[in-house]
Amino acid sequence: MAERSKAWKALERHAEERCGGSLRDLFDRDPHRFERFSLKQEGLLFDYSRHPVTDETMRLLLALGGEMGLADRIEGLFSGESANNTECRPALHVALRNRSGRPMPAGSKNVMPQVEAELAKMRELVDAVHAGSFTGSTGRRITDVVNIGIGGSDLGAVMAVEALARFRKSDIRTHFVSNVDGVQISDVLGIVHAETTLFIVCSKSFTTLETMINARQARDWLITQRSEAAVTRHFVAVSVNAGAMDEFGIASDLRFAIWDWVGGRYSLWSAVGLAIAFAVGMDHFERLLAGAHAMDEHFRRAPFERNLPVIAALLGVWNVNFQDAGSLVILPYDQRLHRFPAYLQQLEMESNGKRVTRDGEPVEWQTCPIVWGEPGSNAQHSFYQLLHQGTRRFAADFIVPVNASSDFQQQQDLALANCLAQAEALMGGQTEADVVTHLERQALDAGDIARLAPHKVHPGDRPSSIYMFPQLDSETLGKLIALYEHKVFVQSVIWNINAFDQWGVELGKKLAARVAPAITGESAREALSSQLRSLLKIADGWRDQ
Ligand code: F6P
Repeated sequence: MAERSKAWKALERHAEERCGGSLRDLFDRDPHRFERFSLKQEGLLFDYSRHPVTDETMRLLLALGGEMGLADRIEGLFSGESANNTECRPALHVALRNRSGRPMPAGSKNVMPQVEAELAKMRELVDAVHAGSFTGSTGRRITDVVNIGIGGSDLGAVMAVEALARFRKSDIRTHFVSNVDGVQISDVLGIVHAETTLFIVCSKSFTTLETMINARQARDWLITQRSEAAVTRHFVAVSVNAGAMDEFGIASDLRFAIWDWVGGRYSLWSAVGLAIAFAVGMDHFERLLAGAHAMDEHFRRAPFERNLPVIAALLGVWNVNFQDAGSLVILPYDQRLHRFPAYLQQLEMESNGKRVTRDGEPVEWQTCPIVWGEPGSNAQHSFYQLLHQGTRRFAADFIVPVNASSDFQQQQDLALANCLAQAEALMGGQTEADVVTHLERQALDAGDIARLAPHKVHPGDRPSSIYMFPQLDSETLGKLIALYEHKVFVQSVIWNINAFDQWGVELGKKLAARVAPAITGESAREALSSQLRSLLKIADGWRDQ
C-alpha cells in the first residue's frame, strides 16, 4: 500500500462525498439502520450503526481488506507464518487458548504439547496452593500472591483479576507490583507476611529493569525475614531466560515457560496469567481461554461482513484514515473493567504505533489512534464535556454488560441507561433550534436566548460503537480481549505494519541506563547532554540524603 490501493482511493473519494450527511440524517432516512449495522455473534452485540457509514462504505472497506490480502494473512497468523517479520517469529498467541485439539505449528514444530504441559503445570500449582498442600517454607498456607512484572507481564493479569473479581477465591489475595519508583513494592511488603507469600516474577526476558529491581527488593526482604533457602519456596518465575532464573535462585519445578512466539502484550493466556488463575481458580482461567478460542474460531471462519474483529478494525481504519479521528476513547460501563482502557493502550499502541511499513518504508497514512479512556459514568463527570462539545475528532467504544457485576442490578440498569444515552447524545447532539425552543419554554428573553444558545448546542455526529453482552464472566472477557487482539492485527494488515514488534521502547531504556549511574555518582556526567547535567545539578541540591 506504499502505492495507495484502488479501494483506498475510492474510500478517499467516498469520504469527500460525506457519505450521505450527518449521523442523524442517516438514522432519519433509514429506520432499519440498527439491523443493518449491528452484529450479534458469539454472545456479543456489536452496534456500529452510529458510525458515518453506508452500505457503500462497508463495501469499499471490505474491498480494501481484500486488496490487502486479509484472508491469507489471517490464515497465515493461525498457521504460524512469520507475522513478526522483523524478529522472524510467528505470533502464535492463539495456540495458548487452542481448545480444538488441532496442532498449531511454529516452524516445523507443533507447539500444542508444550502449551498443554504448561497449562497442566499451572493447574497443579494453583490447585495445590488453594488446597493448602503447597505451603511456604515453614509449612504455613499461602495467603498472598504478588505478581512482579510490567507491561505485558502485568497489565493483562491486573485487568483480568479486577474484571473477574466477582469470582475471586477468598483464600488468596493477589497483589501487583510493576512500577520502578518503589511505591508498590514497599506498600505490598508492608502488608504481607514472608511465611505466607508467594511471589511470581513474570518477565519474558528476565532483564527488564523495573521487574528485576522489584524482584530483588522482594528477595532481599524475604531473606531478611526468613532465609536464603526460603527463596526456592516463595518465588515462582515465568520466563524464557533459564540462566537468569538460575542466578536468581528460582527452583526448577517453579519455573514456567513462555516462548518467543508469544509477544508480551499477547501473553496473558500463558503462565503470565498465573496471578489470574490464583485469584479466580484454574477453572475460570480455562473459561477465559475457551472464550478467547471461541472468538479465534469466529475470526478465522466467519465471512468478513459478519466478522466482529474484521468489521471493528475496518471501522477503525475508516475513522482514523478517512474521518481524521486520531483518538479512540474506551468507555466501559462496569467498574470491574476499570483497567481495560490501560490494557488496550498497550495492546493497540505498542502493536500499531508504527511509522514504517513491514518493508521499512515510511508510511504515508496515519496508523494507530491514541487510545485512552475511563469507566463511565465517572468519565461523564470529567472529560465528556470535550466529547460532546470539544473540537477534537475521536471515536468511542462503549462496553457494557446488561447484568450487574455487583449485587445491585438496579444500579447496572442505570449504568446501561447512561451508556446508551451517551451514545445517542454523541450521535444526535442537540441542534440550535432545539436549544432555542427549550430556552423559550423556560421563558428567557430573546437576548439571553441568543447569548446562551451557542453554548448549549451539541453538534453530535460523534461516532461510537457499542459492545453489549449479558454478563462480564470469564468466557465473555476472553472473547472481548481476543476481539480487540484480532482487531489490532487486521488494522496492522491494512496499514501494512508489523503489529508484533516494539522497537520504539528501546531508546528510552538505553538512555535511562546511562542516566541512572550518573545520578548515583557511579559514572561521570560528562558524557550526558548539558541540559541533563543541569537538571541533575538541581536534583542534587534537592536530595535529602
Ligand atoms: O518495554 C516494553 C516491553 O518489552 C513490553 O513489550 C513487555 O510486555 C514488557 O516490556 C515486559 O517485558 P518482560 O516480560 O520481558 O519483562
